[in-house]
Amino acid sequence: MYLDKIYLLQFKNYEEADISFSDKINVIVGENGSGKTNLLDAIYYLCLSKSAFQNLDNFNIFHEKEFFLIKGNIIENEKKHEITCSLQRGKKKILLVNKVPYEKMTEHIGRFPCILISPNDTELITDGSENRRKFFDGLISQTDSKYLEQLMIYSWALKQRNSTLKLFAEKKTFDPSWLESYNQKILEIGKFLAEKRQEIIFRFIPIFEKYYQILSRDQEKVNVFYETEALKDDFEQIFANNLEKDLFLQRTNKGIHKDDYKFVLGNFPINKFGSQGQQKSFVIALKLAQFTLSKELKNHSPILLLDDIFDKLDDKRMKKLLEIVSGNHFGQVFITDARSDRALSFFGENVHIFQVRKGKIL
Ligand SMILES: Nc1ncnc2c1ncn2[C@@H]1O[C@H](COP(=O)(O)OP(=O)(O)OP(=O)(O)O)[C@@H](O)[C@H]1O
Ligand SMILES: [Mg+2]
Repeated sequence: MYLDKIYLLQFKNYEEADISFSDKINVIVGENGSGKTNLLDAIYYLCLSKSAFQNLDNFNIFHEKEFFLIKGNIIENEKKHEITCSLQRGKKKILLVNKVPYEKMTEHIGRFPCILISPNDTELITDGSENRRKFFDGLISQTDSKYLEQLMIYSWALKQRNSTLKLFAEKKTFDPSWLESYNQKILEIGKFLAEKRQEIIFRFIPIFEKYYQILSRDQEKVNVFYETEALKDDFEQIFANNLEKDLFLQRTNKGIHKDDYKFVLGNFPINKFGSQGQQKSFVIALKLAQFTLSKELKNHSPILLLDDIFDKLDDKRMKKLLEIVSGNHFGQVFITDARSDRALSFFGENVHIFQVRKGKIL
């Protein structure tokens, strides 16, 4: 699967651009602030119907313009799909595949898989558990639509339960029957989701370890541990025992929304003891494993977007990474770099280089 062409109109700092890509390695070079990351984000938008960096869709419209439009042709098994994503200020986003809209936007997720590796990724290690859950939820959702659907119902039930707990506090009242249907959903769906998480992590770990070993040339061992209470035999009881605390804190304190994934380097947590380069290698290996697993489950290669990945990697790790992504296992890859010499010295002339300046592809 690869993106053949993209057309941008008033998207971020691109007033208008029309670009054809290579189906293998594309390197985007340009000064800071020229529009390299924005171009990757436009590709991300087409695949996942949202920005990787900007939660507010409106902020992606070129300053003081009224709308943006992104149009791209994705070729999958020699069949062309035209994807159009547009947004007018203050209106609903419109997404069309071959001119047909979706009934639900979530149907688009996973249809054209795409994986981004960016400098922000180390937040996966350094920040709270929510980021890690999001990463693994994203990984599973892109390959399992039932998981995404159930996850959305779970989030809805959790929100309703928390609102009810708040209402009890406000009204100084309590009626357990108001919580019953939410409790049931949180327990049943939570178990389903935890089982899926465990299943995927089981397949994920060996792939992830292999990538880390290649990057570190076998010098360091890593691991990921999935931690959940939802699969304990007595979880229903644990959940029920927490009611008093839930009422006091006005939120639900037990359930898969509290799960975490522990990231370990050697025998120690990487967030506390890993160097910046080790942390960076760790998240790159996580994303490469996401790529391989997604490819195994969906039978085609996701598009890989590598944004400013060279920073903090030593020359040996950088070379290993470029060897991995330019190998046959990987499909179309986009790499941004403020300098052109690194890509040129590795790939030589066999690579498509795009020079960006102030929102224009030269
Ligand atoms: N909605 C918008 N309208 C116009 N310009 C925008 C909009 N959003 C962001 N920009 C501009 O886009 C530019 C940043 O682009 P981008 O993040 O792609 O740069 P970059 O080439 O990746 O730079 P770096 O090397 O620093 O990562 C900034 O100049 C910013 O002002
Ligand atoms: Mg950038």
